Amino acid sequence: MTTDSAIQDVVFSEEAIHERVRELGREISSAYSAEDRLVVIGVLKGSFLFMADLVRVIEIPHGIDFLMASSYGDSMVSRGEVALLHDPKTDLEGRAVLLVEDIVDTGTTLSVLLPHLEERGASRVDVVALLHKRLTSGLVEPRWVGFDAPNSFLVGYGLDHAETFRHLPYIASL
Ligand code: PRP
Repeated sequence: MTTDSAIQDVVFSEEAIHERVRELGREISSAYSAEDRLVVIGVLKGSFLFMADLVRVIEIPHGIDFLMASSYGDSMVSRGEVALLHDPKTDLEGRAVLLVEDIVDTGTTLSVLLPHLEERGASRVDVVALLHKRLTSGLVEPRWVGFDAPNSFLVGYGLDHAETFRHLPYIASL
């Protein structure tokens, strides 16, 4: 397994993540029916591993797409601006959207993406976030959260620092 001297502590192990993702898959599967025409949309890049594991345990038919948003750049502090770098090509009209986030930090990204997906015609938009720092002051709350996250800089399982560490199968603090 790849490690790095900058990594301090494993915060969520590979096993803990996989167990929680299976639970989330069961809860999400029971919340939708085929009539919802669910489309699961991953927010790139951070969600790519969570998305890949989650869709394999969602047991109802669903479409898959991605959007790309960026707020941090290479900084460790959110700039408070969200750029939509890729808009999903899927027609969302009348469909239930499940937006998949690796982490909700300030909630700024969701506060931009949710109205956008509603404007694109989604019948409803729910969010599943693997991690939630609960710094959002009630801006936008995910419907499902994997873990409450400590207020430290986290990397791994999709999360990066300056584009490194995304590949780690666990989540660690720097
Ligand atoms: C991260 C993360 C969320 C967002 C959360 O993305 O993946 O999308 O920040 O922060 P917020 O709640 O304060 O808006 P980032 O902009 O770092 O891009 P990335 O997914 O490509 O790493």
